Amino acid sequence: MTEIKTITAIAEDTLKGLSSNPKFLSSKYFYDEAGSKIFQDIMHMPEYYLTDCELEIFDQQKGSILNAFAQINGSFDLIELGAGDGYKTKVLLRHLLNQNTDFKYMPVDISEMALAEMANNLKEELPDLHVEAKAGDYFEMIKYINNSGSSAKIILFLGSNIGNYTWKESIDFFSQLKMQMQSHDRLFIGFDLKKDPRTILDAYNDPYGYTREFNLNLLRRLNNELGANFNTNNFRHHAVYEPISGAAKSYLVSLKEQKVDIEELETSFEFDAYEAIYMEMSQKYDLNMIHDLANISGFEVEQNFFDTKKYFVNSLWKLK
Ligand code: AVI
Repeated sequence: MTEIKTITAIAEDTLKGLSSNPKFLSSKYFYDEAGSKIFQDIMHMPEYYLTDCELEIFDQQKGSILNAFAQINGSFDLIELGAGDGYKTKVLLRHLLNQNTDFKYMPVDISEMALAEMANNLKEELPDLHVEAKAGDYFEMIKYINNSGSSAKIILFLGSNIGNYTWKESIDFFSQLKMQMQSHDRLFIGFDLKKDPRTILDAYNDPYGYTREFNLNLLRRLNNELGANFNTNNFRHHAVYEPISGAAKSYLVSLKEQKVDIEELETSFEFDAYEAIYMEMSQKYDLNMIHDLANISGFEVEQNFFDTKKYFVNSLWKLK
């Protein structure tokens, strides 16, 4: 009998990315167990201002945020895409519970481990909270959102997670969400804003080496899961920020001419000295871009919530 080998998404995407010119890998694969842990470290370092800014918005403006949500009459489902450890969302959840709001919290994340930890932590800290967690890809989860019942939906997409998508992917994503939404539903999205390029670069080129490890960890993951033989000492993390487009980009640069074998793909990839692998984009926005993105995707901006430094905005959208 011939063995039918099923190719996993990570294998297929790696083959595509490393066969391309220029080479690329998808940052959606950063979040294995080790990667999710490194991301927690990134979120807690002062240079990664995004977390503190969004937390400040929630902390200082939770009343106005709840008022905006409360325009939806009756109970609602609070669906969080890419919930991670729920560190920031807890501030909102606690406030909603204190105000006796009738809602269910539905976190969705690609990392089962992060979700399980979060669910345990919520059980301890907010025992009255009704939680229904789901592990999976956001796009797959969109279908699940639609089947989640007849309650109104508030969909949270926080932490500038949208910034890891290209402009076109963002429009596709929001347009797909739109098809699952009704006029009383809302989208609440975190966008990182354009600011001093040095501040942005410091967030993606930190002195502790967390961001470097976050990128290199994907090579380790390919070693573990696809039988690759990347030597991480032969690659260097390199971050750039382009202030006109607002794109912060990360690369891993091959420090020498080398060949990497990937057993699972039954092939090898040649790297020239200083050839780069494009790893991740973290888009920064201005308000015109946010307005255009809403408009093109079929939404309008209902209200914006800024932190005091105006580094970050949580934007509430409704259907046009
Ligand atoms: C998850 N995402 C919004 C982070 C970002 O800022 O793009 C991932 C990250 N990459 C490097 N540092 C953090």
